[in-house]
Amino acid sequence: VIDIRKLYAQTGKFTYDPGFLSTASCSSAITYIDGDKGELLYRGYPIEQLAVHCDYMETCYLILYGELPSVEQKKAFTARVTQHTMVHEQMQFFLRGFRRDAHPMAVLTGLVGAMSAFYPDSINLHDAGQRDISAVRLIAKMPTLVAMAYKYNMGQPFMYPQNKLSYTGNLMRMMWATPCDEYEPNPVIERALDRILILHADHEQNASTSTVRLCASSGTNPFAAIAAGVACLWGPAHGGANEASLNMLYDIQAQGGVAKIGEFINQVKDKNSSVRLMGFGHRVYKNYDPRAKLMRETCHEVLDALGLHDDPLFKLAMTLEKIALEDDYFIQRKLYPNVDFYSGIVQKAIGVPVSLFTAIFALARTVGWIAQLNEMISDPEYKIGRPRQLFTGAVQRNVVPIAQRA
Ligand code: ACO
Repeated sequence: VIDIRKLYAQTGKFTYDPGFLSTASCSSAITYIDGDKGELLYRGYPIEQLAVHCDYMETCYLILYGELPSVEQKKAFTARVTQHTMVHEQMQFFLRGFRRDAHPMAVLTGLVGAMSAFYPDSINLHDAGQRDISAVRLIAKMPTLVAMAYKYNMGQPFMYPQNKLSYTGNLMRMMWATPCDEYEPNPVIERALDRILILHADHEQNASTSTVRLCASSGTNPFAAIAAGVACLWGPAHGGANEASLNMLYDIQAQGGVAKIGEFINQVKDKNSSVRLMGFGHRVYKNYDPRAKLMRETCHEVLDALGLHDDPLFKLAMTLEKIALEDDYFIQRKLYPNVDFYSGIVQKAIGVPVSLFTAIFALARTVGWIAQLNEMISDPEYKIGRPRQLFTGAVQRNVVPIAQRA
């Protein structure tokens, strides 16, 4: 690693690296990825162990505070989060300004940004105590906001949080119960959804996390910075890939299913086509994304438990994966399934509507975004983010008054 800042100070020379292919934008102690080995660690713990031994609340504590909690610490943290699950009642009226069919990510971007207006007592980014309250508020309120966006879209009454349930059980109830029902979360679905949250909790300097860091580097408030992260995550090359991946499987199925995979793969390989195999490829992983392995495992478990093992979409996905992994185009470019390839199938199986997939991802990633923001602001070397450019426009020229212009 070359610290280019010294070279810049001495010579005024800087590097040109669009897309940050070879530039570290910060130092970080939160998440480690070895892209060649397909390894992912949160604070040193392998994702495979966290997925089996921990729940999302423990994972949040680990990512935010650096260590796994003791029983007492987990209880206290969960109680703090639980205290903040309600959103300001006025948020409902703000939400009602959206069209009913608005995409949940459009609604979520607006709602999260609006939190800075509803919680002005915790918007000072430079106060560590206030940042911590904002962190807890964001983690606590995201499920409520995501469920509200869903209920609004469905035309159903909003469900208030029920704090005797787990974090994930509460999310399920707010999405799927109605005031007329007694609702008990199905434990298989609760565990699967919790695992989705764990696997998406942080992923070092991806596009949305870098957006949050850059946005917050100006000193703006945490809610505004996280709203920027939500907006960035929405794109199909990033978090929106889970929705795009499921829609791709639906399209292949509609055109004839497994028999049409070859034709689809040829389209993907065609240099003149912009079609990509969604849920495949990653900037850092040049091996199987470890989250995709866990997601595929969860997919088996969920489909078996729900009696959906013959799900044609899952079979289609497995065949598509096998064909792609044996194809020279994908082998040469080291393109493997990423987390989004199977997460859509799991979410669909447990009843999450396709348009809500990326909002669930945003909910899960909120803790990572806040932890990264905290890390940046606490760094003594922290500076506003301000990339340079290679100017390719016109050199200096004189203005001709409009009456004399040809
Ligand atoms: N399908 C087909 N070809 C692909 C794919 C894909 N999914 N991904 C990359 N390639 C090809 C490119 O066409 C390019 O080929 P070339 O060298 O012949 O021009 C080569 O592989 C390298 O691709 P880049 O786009 O340069 O790789 P980059 O690191 O910039 O992009 C990205 C990574 C955006 C994830 C890309 O692989 C992609 O678009 N994947 C599909 C969308 C997706 O699944 N995104 C989710 C990522 S995980 C996440 O955000 C949670």
